[in-house]
Amino acid sequence: MTAETSNHSHFAVAIDGPAASGKSTLARELARRLGLVMVNSGAMYRAVTWKVLRENVDPHDTPAVVGLLDRIDISCGRDGMFSTIAIDGADPGDELRGEDVNQHVSAVSAIPEVRERLIDLQRHYLDHSSIVMEGRDIGSVVFPDTPFKIYVDACAEVRAARRAKDGEVDSVARRDKLDSARKTAPLVVAQGATVLDNSHHTIESGVQAAIDILRNQGLRIE
Ligand code: DC
Repeated sequence: MTAETSNHSHFAVAIDGPAASGKSTLARELARRLGLVMVNSGAMYRAVTWKVLRENVDPHDTPAVVGLLDRIDISCGRDGMFSTIAIDGADPGDELRGEDVNQHVSAVSAIPEVRERLIDLQRHYLDHSSIVMEGRDIGSVVFPDTPFKIYVDACAEVRAARRAKDGEVDSVARRDKLDSARKTAPLVVAQGATVLDNSHHTIESGVQAAIDILRNQGLRIE
């Protein structure tokens, strides 16, 4: 299966939604089926948070976080169909999903300077290939002009059960509340996005629903 736009230029499929809505799995499968690069923007916010904690900077001390941001090298690339991230040459690996990072990533990602720097890096992915990018503000802020936008949602019970199954008992509800209430780029259903309720889909039926949405939004999928 391949996907293209009428003018054959690179394009972005924006997948937004709350934590544990199943958007990563959906984005990954979509990228695989459509032959696109999958970019995990949450990993970028997590990587900066990881660095903040590693350098013993207080995640709530905005000037200190911004000071650190000015000193670090953030390198975004790809390995096959997946995005990669390294900070000062180091790949945080599994620590990205650690409890410490879970606890503080909402505070760090609420800082406008952090967002500005990462959004610039996110947009550069389009220089090289067409992408599926998942996050919170992809359809609203990063690629507001893309016609291909899906907002993935799932009921609170299903999301809590999903995180518990993954061994992550961090408070998903708390993180969503912070991500939705922040001033800069809060989690919203972007203008033009179609909502996909992923509460009761299997992976296969969810991907099929997403492909139908993208076709309706004008993506040519063969
Ligand atoms: O997708 P995730 O759960 O790995 O994202 C981790 C955090 O990063 C999330 O709680 C909020 C932040 N984030 C963001 O602010 N904007 C994005 N585009 C992606 C993630």
